Amino acid sequence: VQGALWGGRFAGGPADALAELSKSTHFDWRLAGYDIAGSRAHARVLHKAGLLDDAELEGMLVALDQLDDDVKSGAYQPAPSDEDVHGSLERGLIERAGTQLGGKLRAGRSRNDQIATLGRMYLRDHARIIGAGVLSVIDALVGQAQTHLGVAMPGRTHLQHAQPVLLSHHLLAHAWSLLRDVQRLADWDKRAAVSPYGSGALAGSSLGLDPNAVAADLGFDSAVWNSIDGTASRDVYAEFSWIAAMIGVDLSRVSEEIIIWATKEFSFITLDDAYSTGSSIMPQKKNPDVAELARGKAGRLIGDLAGLLATLKGLPLAYNRDLQEDKEPVFDAADTLEVLLPAVSGMIATLKFNTERMQSLAPQGFALATDIAEWVVRQGVPFREAHELSGSAVQLAEGRGVELWDLTDEDYAGISPHLTPEVRTVLSTEGSLDSRSSQGGTARSAVELQLAELNRQIGEV
Ligand code: ARG
Repeated sequence: VQGALWGGRFAGGPADALAELSKSTHFDWRLAGYDIAGSRAHARVLHKAGLLDDAELEGMLVALDQLDDDVKSGAYQPAPSDEDVHGSLERGLIERAGTQLGGKLRAGRSRNDQIATLGRMYLRDHARIIGAGVLSVIDALVGQAQTHLGVAMPGRTHLQHAQPVLLSHHLLAHAWSLLRDVQRLADWDKRAAVSPYGSGALAGSSLGLDPNAVAADLGFDSAVWNSIDGTASRDVYAEFSWIAAMIGVDLSRVSEEIIIWATKEFSFITLDDAYSTGSSIMPQKKNPDVAELARGKAGRLIGDLAGLLATLKGLPLAYNRDLQEDKEPVFDAADTLEVLLPAVSGMIATLKFNTERMQSLAPQGFALATDIAEWVVRQGVPFREAHELSGSAVQLAEGRGVELWDLTDEDYAGISPHLTPEVRTVLSTEGSLDSRSSQGGTARSAVELQLAELNRQIGEV
């Protein structure tokens, strides 16, 4: 086969069915630029080891630059007979440098150490793009939180009214989990910044090549300490995929709330026209498709991770061709997040909040019952008893179809002598919010400190 990287020991070429199955250029071609960068670095260590003379190195680098330009412009494309990006680029190099010189580059390296390295390079670059995308979602949440400081909303557990919280506090809860995702990407990069180049097929190279020189050339911190690990492990890919799935899940959770909040029943938010879609039959429709796609894509990202882990499970050391299946899931995860994140940040940044409605619903549904119980505790009553007293007030109000503040002083006194008229001091949204002022609480003062700390940590990633 023209341009094949192997064949010497075979009497004939591969069956068409095998060639079709084997081929990966349709998805690994996106690594071409990284492959060429790896080849430049490899040429330099071959030169350092005395395997290329000065003129050969010069000729090789010129040919690689030409190839790089032709790949970028699209003038050079993989041929149908090319098995993968590595084979195709060697063919292109030989076309430019001649068989004699072009044929020297492959010494001391294998597609096994190449592909493991190129994948890490690709993912490191895309992790930075994704991290920036997540930071703009965080920015949108922080912007809304800052704009709406002081606005109360119903805080929920089990989707039922629980206690009033600040809208800012709620929005920032999403920001914190997304910030941890960005921190995870940064931490992951330490493990991704180790280069497998130089591992060869699995056992290292006998040609005296310096793996750390290649690593430094390609922007890695160092080279792997074990060539088998370098060629056979994909935990760095799997970890990337897990973080991508976690980002998907975090975006899905905020999106689910946006979907609920945009319903007629909630009416908490209005989506900007630029981030809503219509219906082909129902003229009135304004749909939260960005949020729904975010929810849907989370499933896809989880699938990418599950598929990759299933590929890795049970693989013996070192390289096995199964590992060719490692790329599509991680590429898909990166592609998915790179289209999703700008849409989600735009949607959140342009949300309009119906603050009056949120504010007026905040204390409803007996959301101040805990405040009554804690007020009674401050009078020295055991919490067990306080909980019961407050529960009785809820039962009475619910039976009458009124809220806690609609009960009279006599009603409260009838439940317990502990429930004096002063209990009304905590029967307001503001009283409830202000009282939760310790670190992490929903009082405005605590939320302001929280915002400062969040901004400090954003500045650090
Ligand atoms: N296309 C292969 C992959 O993606 C490159 C490594 C091939 N190595 C081999 N020994 N066949 O994994």
